[in-house]
Amino acid sequence: MTHSALLDADIRAKRYGNRTILDNVRLTLAPGKITALLGPSGCGKSTLLRIVAGLDRDYTGSVALDGVMQRGPSPLAGVIFQEPRLLPWLRVADNITFPERARGAALAHARALLDEVGLNADDAARWPKHLSGGMAQRVAIARGLFAQPRLLLLDEPFSAVDAMTRMRLQQLLLTIVETHRMAALVVTHDIDEALYLADRIVLLEPAKGPSTRPSSHLFELGAARPRQRESLAAHPLRAILLERLEAAVMA
Ligand SMILES: Nc1ncnc2c1ncn2[C@@H]1O[C@H](COP(=O)(O)OP(=O)(O)OP(=O)(O)O)[C@@H](O)[C@H]1O
Ligand SMILES: [Mg+2]
Repeated sequence: MTHSALLDADIRAKRYGNRTILDNVRLTLAPGKITALLGPSGCGKSTLLRIVAGLDRDYTGSVALDGVMQRGPSPLAGVIFQEPRLLPWLRVADNITFPERARGAALAHARALLDEVGLNADDAARWPKHLSGGMAQRVAIARGLFAQPRLLLLDEPFSAVDAMTRMRLQQLLLTIVETHRMAALVVTHDIDEALYLADRIVLLEPAKGPSTRPSSHLFELGAARPRQRESLAAHPLRAILLERLEAAVMA
């Protein structure tokens, strides 16, 4: 095991019934680095993320967080889903500090996080139903950061917002990862999002028939930052990923 790895996952097999969803997937995450998990719908991206988050223990293999074997959800890892999943009966600040009440130091921390994710400290007293989709997802990111995790696990975090908000939230994620030297795993089925955000891309490909197994491939990006979205359109990996994704969808 590499000592600098915040996450070291070695998933031998994940099955639903007699269907193998994940077969020998190896995943390591280092501080300050982003890995994108790419693949067609139904290939097992969320399944892998849930395993890494400690939300699913029904698999063979192992997951280590900062060198310690995973035994369920850990404060080392913050999880952010596609929908903000805010509790409607709690104000923004209480959502961020949940299950703690937002008082004293906890409230101060929640306000600092609101500032970090580009909201106003006054938004702390708002109700979730009064937030736009983009604002609610910023609150969800603040909630994911509250326990000061070293690892962020995001499952299609920006899929439900408009294109402009999406670009701003992608930028926010880059800033957060850099400022806190966190490691991040981002599930996406958008090649351009993967190319913009990631240091590495793991492509999951489903089994192509009853006698074959699902597989995973690791691509290193090696693109400098800050990245220009326009020039990424010509990145050599883009054509390769597009072709493989199309083939996987058709299989
Ligand atoms: N609880 C379950 N019982 C049986 N099969 C399941 C269960 N959860 C997921 N699956 C199956 O496992 C496969 C992987 O599901 P998963 O949600 O991980 O895919 P995904 O890559 O995240 O897809 P999407 O891009 O649509 O979110 C799918 O074929 C799904 O039907
Ligand atoms: Mg999914």
